[in-house]
Amino acid sequence: MRVIPIAVSAALAAALSASCNRPVRAPASAAPAASTPNSPTFSDTVAPIVYGNCVSCHRPGEAAPFPLISYEDVAKRGALIAKVTASRYMPPWKAVHGYGEFKDERRLTDAQIASIGEWVRGGMPRGDASRMPEVPKFTDGWQLGKPDLILEMTEGYIVPATGADIYRNFVIPTGLTEDKWIRAVEFRPSARRVVHHALFSYVRGGAVKSLDGRSGRPGFGGAMPVAFVPGFQPAGELAGWAVGTTPRFFPEGVARQLPKNSDLVVQLHFHPTGKPETEQSTIGIYFADGPPERRLVTPGIPGFFGALAGIDIPPGEKAFTITGSYTVPRDMYALSIAAHAHYLGKEFKVTATRPDASTKPLLWIQDWDFNWQDRYDYKEPVLLARGTRIDWSITYDNSAENPRNPCNPPRRVRWGVQSFDEMGSINFMMIPASTVTREEEDRQRQQMAAALKNAIGKVMESDAVKRYAAEQKRFMEDPTREGADPCAGK
Ligand code: HEC
Repeated sequence: MRVIPIAVSAALAAALSASCNRPVRAPASAAPAASTPNSPTFSDTVAPIVYGNCVSCHRPGEAAPFPLISYEDVAKRGALIAKVTASRYMPPWKAVHGYGEFKDERRLTDAQIASIGEWVRGGMPRGDASRMPEVPKFTDGWQLGKPDLILEMTEGYIVPATGADIYRNFVIPTGLTEDKWIRAVEFRPSARRVVHHALFSYVRGGAVKSLDGRSGRPGFGGAMPVAFVPGFQPAGELAGWAVGTTPRFFPEGVARQLPKNSDLVVQLHFHPTGKPETEQSTIGIYFADGPPERRLVTPGIPGFFGALAGIDIPPGEKAFTITGSYTVPRDMYALSIAAHAHYLGKEFKVTATRPDASTKPLLWIQDWDFNWQDRYDYKEPVLLARGTRIDWSITYDNSAENPRNPCNPPRRVRWGVQSFDEMGSINFMMIPASTVTREEEDRQRQQMAAALKNAIGKVMESDAVKRYAAEQKRFMEDPTREGADPCAGK
């Protein structure tokens, strides 16, 4: 199957023609300066753009590799900045503009991009220093206020200066003596530059203790979503964090359960920075007063991170696509959506078709990047009436031309939990559109439990999971295997 990215080139053409059609400025009457007359200046035009869209990450102690605060910071990299903003590589935001409406969209307008380009071509004039905007202030400390429970990694983990990205899970007992409902998780890495994203889940207390520290270092390896492993139940996901995300409480009326005696598992994705870094994260947890009125449901499509979706990608295949649809069983509000694949993931498209045949775009990512696994919060909850069909497709590129392909020459890639295997999932947060009676909720829970049991049975029988179980067994016998070359011998 081949997908020609027509929309990409159409968007590019539109962007190009938009910049060509810009009104030409009248020549200035006097031009004493070395820079092009009428060129936008740093103080009036570029600094406001950079302060509003870049310094949240590009400032000391944050994840981006250099600050963009002073004139020198920006001018030194002027040409590169013009290039990465024109291509929309920066600010990083993967959801196609207009296909779903999201909170805190990180996006420059066409006019802002054009101004940066003009400023660079115009010789990067400083402008009038007295007109410089104020550098934005960022609060140190907890953004959501004092947490009810603060958990810290028991030991620092040393990330070497160089090498491949590392996925590591750290286990922190919650010490909770009663079940709690939580309404936010705020994450504070100690070495911000090295932590790329984090996933928080809970598992039954002690369930993963035997894995922790087995390789002689804190935590255990792997990009496996731990909440998914039957042996760790009761277990569940709590929240995620990625570079640049704004800490937020869950949407109004949403709370997630954190059972007593559970252990928090923090999965960190490290991206080595060129010097050794020690990470010892702190996690703040905010409790809700009690159970929420409406229970949060988190459908993952196609289910089990794609374990049963037939992901088996031949080497060299440029556009391997899986598709399907999911029918919403009752009136729901979608609050947010997230996509998940590994390095070969390329395109995600999710569209709802309502019972009256009207359609609603939910998410489109044309150039998936494993490094930017954002959760996209809808600006307004999206009503999905019972019977709405959600059509989805996920496309992978296993060709040598895919610069993110970890293996060259490419090799066959199947479903698996390691980052060099593949997964495919579209993960929603939804709440029922109306309150549910206790009887109805119980009935639904029983139905879901039965469906889950049935599905788990199928999953356990699947080839993908058998391979995974064998892999885990080898890993348990020899934890040093986690660094094995993914491209060799498969
Ligand atoms: C959400 C955080 C975030 C925001 C917002 C952000 N950046 Fe970045 N930027 C990064 C990170 C992380 C990297 C390094 C990793 C990478 O290159 O992908 C980076 C890399 C860069 C690079 C180097 C690219 C290269 O090829 O070496 C440039 C230039 C840059 N950013 C400019 C900008 C500009 C200009 C803005 C605002 C218009 C911006 N960034 C907004 C996080 C951010």
